[in-house]
Amino acid sequence: MPGDSRLRMPPPNEKQRMAFLDTHRYVGYGGARGGGKSWFVRWKAVLLALYYAGIKILITRRTFRELLNNHIFPLIQLLNGAARYNHSDKCFTFPNGSTIWFGYCACDGDLGQYQGAEYDVWFADEAGQFQEHWLTQIDACVRGVNAFPKRTYFTLNPGGPGHGYFKRLFIDRNYTEDEHPEDYSFIQALCTDNAALMKSQPEYMRSLQKLPPKLRQAWLYGRWDVYEGQFFEDFADRPEHYGDRQWTHVIDPFEIPEGWKIYRSFDWGYNKPFSCGWWAVDYDGVVYRILELYGCTGTPNEGVKWTPPKVFAEIARIEREHRWLAGKHVIGIADPAIWDAETGKSVADMAAEQGVYFSPGDHKRIPGWMQVHYRLAFDENGYPQMYIFKNCKAFIRTLPLLQYDESKCEDLDTDGEDHVADETRYFCMSRPIKPLQARHERAFERSPAALFLDVSREDVKAVKRPRMEVILREE
Ligand SMILES: Nc1ncnc2c1ncn2[C@@H]1O[C@H](COP(=O)(O)OP(=O)(O)OP(=O)(O)O)[C@@H](O)[C@H]1O
Ligand SMILES: [Mg+2]
Repeated sequence: MPGDSRLRMPPPNEKQRMAFLDTHRYVGYGGARGGGKSWFVRWKAVLLALYYAGIKILITRRTFRELLNNHIFPLIQLLNGAARYNHSDKCFTFPNGSTIWFGYCACDGDLGQYQGAEYDVWFADEAGQFQEHWLTQIDACVRGVNAFPKRTYFTLNPGGPGHGYFKRLFIDRNYTEDEHPEDYSFIQALCTDNAALMKSQPEYMRSLQKLPPKLRQAWLYGRWDVYEGQFFEDFADRPEHYGDRQWTHVIDPFEIPEGWKIYRSFDWGYNKPFSCGWWAVDYDGVVYRILELYGCTGTPNEGVKWTPPKVFAEIARIEREHRWLAGKHVIGIADPAIWDAETGKSVADMAAEQGVYFSPGDHKRIPGWMQVHYRLAFDENGYPQMYIFKNCKAFIRTLPLLQYDESKCEDLDTDGEDHVADETRYFCMSRPIKPLQARHERAFERSPAALFLDVSREDVKAVKRPRMEVILREE
């Protein structure tokens, strides 16, 4: 109705209602994607602002762009003039004197915004994306000599740098001497609790189901314990399938067809092992680790201490002499750190002197690990996008040993023997692919079968990979 200034809040779902009524000092809300967390943050902030005249509320996200999209634009629309937004202060002011402020924090330098500030209530939306020390420093601003409630709401998804901290506080309920268990309350909300989303966007649930297994467990079912134990659970070494290449990554070697592209990936090490892997790529884009040179003594994770000239002379020799590599153009990718030249020549310069050339790899860790996982995923016939020849012993030994990092949950523990994994990651990032489900959907849309409209998705089988000849002779 024109001129109607009343706000109309849609009914909250059951979990949102519980969160609205919760009065603990620290309220954890959510634990999975799409549960209606940001919606709760906006409405709870508005209700508090209207109820307690003069209250100061803070809403945070990692970046200002996220604040704009998730909170500021939706609140301007929702409040419809009931509070005035000041762009330079990043603040809504209500006629009763209440204020809602917006803050971001993506690095230590951003903490300056909170120096000396005081708020009564803090909503840390997507709080798992914050480092633990950012959380504790901003929480120190929740104070003030007044009668307003003092509260912090954390909305959470498993994962991110704050994962370990929130799992301890809200899931394991394991407290330090300074923390009081009675201050902490957790309300789990899954996307299935959000009836509004289920109704308006049923495909959202399907998009969560397509995620790689760990992320699906975390974001769809709100599992907090998935980032523990073995990092590459998806790696399979099944000798009974070395021949047929189904449901295994390790396979019998075969002669490399002439036209396949060859790559070399490299991770430098002296006290720790260096690792060099050679990869062949078939015409479907499937990658095969065909050879490797791993600079390890007989003791795991102990480097052979070869100088760079010795390492690259050996690599150059192998590429001149091995029948799979001789005469081929080899595309080199390496850890960008080898271009650092603190004193004189960089390791990359010394490689070039031996005729071994590299381009700097993309070393973003989490996207890189996702690329390795996407490659390891088996399709419905048990064919992955990455194979390892059984002569690549370092890959086969070290990959299954790697563990999740306790503090950076989607990452692996870098104390492990991760050199082969690192160069594999640089290589995978040089040829990024989509996750399996997305690949299937694209293939289906392009396949001629899609023209027959009565053919169901289940009836369309992936084409079996032609088997290549297996050689019996090993190097
Ligand atoms: N009670 C409700 N009534 C109507 N719509 C709602 C309600 N709760 C949530 N929604 C809508 O459901 C959608 C998802 O909610 P929201 O963005 O709050 O989820 P979220 O848990 O923050 O998701 P994410 O994990 O992706 O950040 C939004 O479009 C939101 O407006
Ligand atoms: Mg949200």
